[in-house]
Parts: sequence; C-alpha cells; structure tokens
Amino acid sequence: MDGRLLPDPPLWVSHGRGATFTDVDGHRYLDFNVCDMSAILGYAHPRLSQVIGEQAARGVQMFLPAESALAVCEQLRLRFGLPMWQFTLSVSSANAEAIRIARVATGRQGVLLFGGKYHGMLDETLWSDDGAGLVPEELGVGTVAPPDLAVVDFNDIDAADRVLRLGRTAAVLIEGVLTNCGTVLPEAGFLPGLREACTRSGTLLVMDETHTQFDLFGGAVCQPRCVGCHLQLRATPRFLPRSRRRRCLSGDPGRLPQRDVRTLSAGGPDIGRAHDWLSVVPAAGGLS
Ligand SMILES: Cc1ncc(COP(=O)(O)O)c(C=O)c1O
Repeated sequence: MDGRLLPDPPLWVSHGRGATFTDVDGHRYLDFNVCDMSAILGYAHPRLSQVIGEQAARGVQMFLPAESALAVCEQLRLRFGLPMWQFTLSVSSANAEAIRIARVATGRQGVLLFGGKYHGMLDETLWSDDGAGLVPEELGVGTVAPPDLAVVDFNDIDAADRVLRLGRTAAVLIEGVLTNCGTVLPEAGFLPGLREACTRSGTLLVMDETHTQFDLFGGAVCQPRCVGCHLQLRATPRFLPRSRRRRCLSGDPGRLPQRDVRTLSAGGPDIGRAHDWLSVVPAAGGLS
C-alpha cells in the first residue's frame, strides 16, 4: 500500500459551467456524463444559481413543510400526472420507502430484483444470484439475505412469474431499461407481462427511473408508446445539491393495494443532485 485509497485517484474538480467543468490544474472537460444525470441542464446556470441563492438567504433547512413544496409538487403533477408526492434525499431512500409502502400494502416481505440492476446503497437490494444462491454484492452487506428476496434474469418473464406465484413478494423493483451494466433494453412483452404478473399476484411494481426519466416527457419507461406498459413505481433523483435536498412521498394509502407506485428523481443542472420523489398512481390508469 502506498497510502492511496484508490489505485487511480479521481480528478479533483474546481468548478463547472454549462456542459464543461474545470479541474484543479486548470484543464477543461466536456462532460458527457452530466454528473450521472444530475446536471442535465448544465453547471451553474445563471437563473438557477440566482434562485438557489435567494432561497439560501431565506433558509434551507426548516424540518417542516415549506410553501414552495406545494408549487414544486404542482409542477411535478403537471409533468408526470401523479397526484401526490414525497421527496427523499436520494433514490436509495426513495426505493427504501417504496419497498416499505409495498410491504405495508401487501402484508408481505419479499422483493423481486433483476440481475444487472443497481438501486442504490440500500443493503437489501445489494444481492445477486450466482446460480447457487444469493450472494452479497458489497462487503459489509451481511451474510444472510433478507427473507423472500429473489433475483432473476432481466427479460425472463417466466422466472419472474414463478417467484410472484409464490405470493410472498411485496414489490418488484426494476429499471425498465437496465442502465448500470451497459444498456439492456426490455424485450417486447417483458414489461407488460411483468405488469400483468404483478396484478395477478397482488404485487406492487416499482419502476426505478433514475436514468430513464428524461428520455421522454414524464419518463421513458412508463410511456405506453415506448414499451407498451403504463404504470410502474419509479425512482428518479437529482435536482438539488445535498445542502438543499428535499423529501417527498406521495400516495393514497387507502387504495394502495390497487395501485402501483412510481418513484421519480428528476435532476437539474447546477442545482446538483438528488431530488427524489415517490408517488402512487392508479394501476388501471394511463400516463400518456
Ligand atoms: C437506477 C439507479 N437507482 C438508484 C440509484 C441510487 O441513486 P442515489 O445515489 O441517489 O441513492 C442509482 C445511482 O446511480 C441508479 O442508477
């Protein structure tokens, strides 16, 4: 060990502007990664910097609801068609809350995941199936998998259906397009089939749209014209810098078993990262 934590230390950034950032040595980079989708409008947009500054001058950590949340939720409702919203600090938190909602709504414990997924640093999603059984994906996650957790291959509707038919799964958590192991598109019929299997088994379908939400207005995956499948629960993060993160959860607890949940996280430019929300939408409705 030479004292370095990483064999290839990262660049250290000085500042960003528009589509570029500059490192501490003065090199300028064109950022095709847009901060993993969180800087989708570019860095340091003047108008955004202004409104963030104005809010900072009024205080950003109240621990109580602020009136501005109503305006934000209304804009989210208009864009995504979902009536109720809750913000979380990260998509990991949005997924954690979605799983809890599903457990309460169904009275079950199980979660179904798909190989190649990434749903954040939530311990119970950091498991893979190596063919012999479930194995933790990270050090420190633990050695005993959560009860009724299952991981099957993406696009394998029969395997998913077999798990759901056991009746022990509260939530299916899925990226509609796998984006954390390259890009793996859903095969024709996979997502609609999953939707049907969830409905049949009384399972909530949770769609993590961290990386797919911007592809189409209202998100790519839930658009019937995109994959022929409406209504999942989605997770999308990334708007505000950590100091200004908000939480928001939406739903209709009385009707939850009949509904899907969507967790969304939308990102903005230099408002940085992590604005997550989760919402519940009617399973029979459409999002077009
Ligand atoms: C699909 C997906 N879900 C969840 C996460 C976790 O997001 P966060 O770091 O905001 O918890 C990521 C992070 O890249 C992601 O790609």
